[in-house]
Amino acid sequence: MELPGSNVNFGAFVEGIDLNDVNEDTFAQLRNAVYENQLVIIKGQQALTPSNHFDFVHRFDPTAQALHGHGTLKSVKETWKGAPSLLALGSVYNIPEAPGVRLVAAGWQGEDHYGLKDITYDATTIRKTQVNPPTKEEMDAGVVRFGRWHIDCAAYDLDPPKVTALRCLKLPQGREQTIRWDDGSGMEMKTRPGRTAYYNCEQLYEMLTAEEKAMADNSLVTYAPHPYKWISGCQQDTIGITIPQGQGKEVPQDQMPAFEFSKVKKYPMVWHNEVTGKPAFMVHAIIAQKLHIKRAANDVELVIDDVDEVRKFLYPFARRMVTPENVLVAPYEEGDIAVWNNRGMQHGFLEYPVDIMGPRTMHQVNIAASCPPS
Ligand SMILES: [Fe+2]
Repeated sequence: MELPGSNVNFGAFVEGIDLNDVNEDTFAQLRNAVYENQLVIIKGQQALTPSNHFDFVHRFDPTAQALHGHGTLKSVKETWKGAPSLLALGSVYNIPEAPGVRLVAAGWQGEDHYGLKDITYDATTIRKTQVNPPTKEEMDAGVVRFGRWHIDCAAYDLDPPKVTALRCLKLPQGREQTIRWDDGSGMEMKTRPGRTAYYNCEQLYEMLTAEEKAMADNSLVTYAPHPYKWISGCQQDTIGITIPQGQGKEVPQDQMPAFEFSKVKKYPMVWHNEVTGKPAFMVHAIIAQKLHIKRAANDVELVIDDVDEVRKFLYPFARRMVTPENVLVAPYEEGDIAVWNNRGMQHGFLEYPVDIMGPRTMHQVNIAASCPPS
């Protein structure tokens, strides 16, 4: 997508395809388009069935178990000592006819939404999950911030899905909002309500210095076991890329559920595009627990296991991408489906005042992968 004044170098539109009926050739072209453009918006998928939506995503990783990237609904909703995971602070629903399709929504979803009867979806709000959030009055007047920037992944037991496909069924109605950084930089950008923001981690890798590239190429990250439970009491910073220094609200180890060492995930900092081979700097900073840093292949490994030091080390990487020039707020409309390379991108939701702008309805599919990233 060519955008005036922007450095965004990813994204493409696709038209004239019905995802209910995709032959092998067309699928191969679509798969290439996703990996070459990182994000593809396929227009006009109003008639896509939830089952076909799931099956389409499964074709990107056909040997993967047919399981959502975060596991079953039951596993996401599981509380521990009365506290939910960060992922279950709001509502969590599957579409009954296709349990691998997750509802991502806000507000009332109608009398019968694909078998979900009369539900009102409670979306999470940055007013609970971020430090010094805007007031309700400010948000009603159009102020918003980036929610949590992330890769779709469980990061414990299950490997990160290869792609995510987010179908937009209903968008809120209202005027543009202003995304505020609130980090002293004065940065701001405009968004239409109900969209998702993206940055390209291949672009981030390209922007690194030669020394940073050598470090990233040779270093590893260990993720916390049950990571979203671990940080469920933490507040994120004002742009959703880190947890501020010294907050100390992680759930202590003795209050965490038991874990198996074999299920803990330790991944390289750099993951490669499975079609183009391009490297991407892929670190999910807020759930990283330990860094294994090597400045070159033959360097001695430095382990950083103090969580504040881990976050301090990682902060400048995401921060250089979260700028008005490098972020794309995806211009999807009702009926479109956004499909992206989840192993080469980061994304974050932008909330809006539901009571003023009305409900939003999205169907999201990603599938825990058949193999780790490499
Ligand atoms: Fe996501």
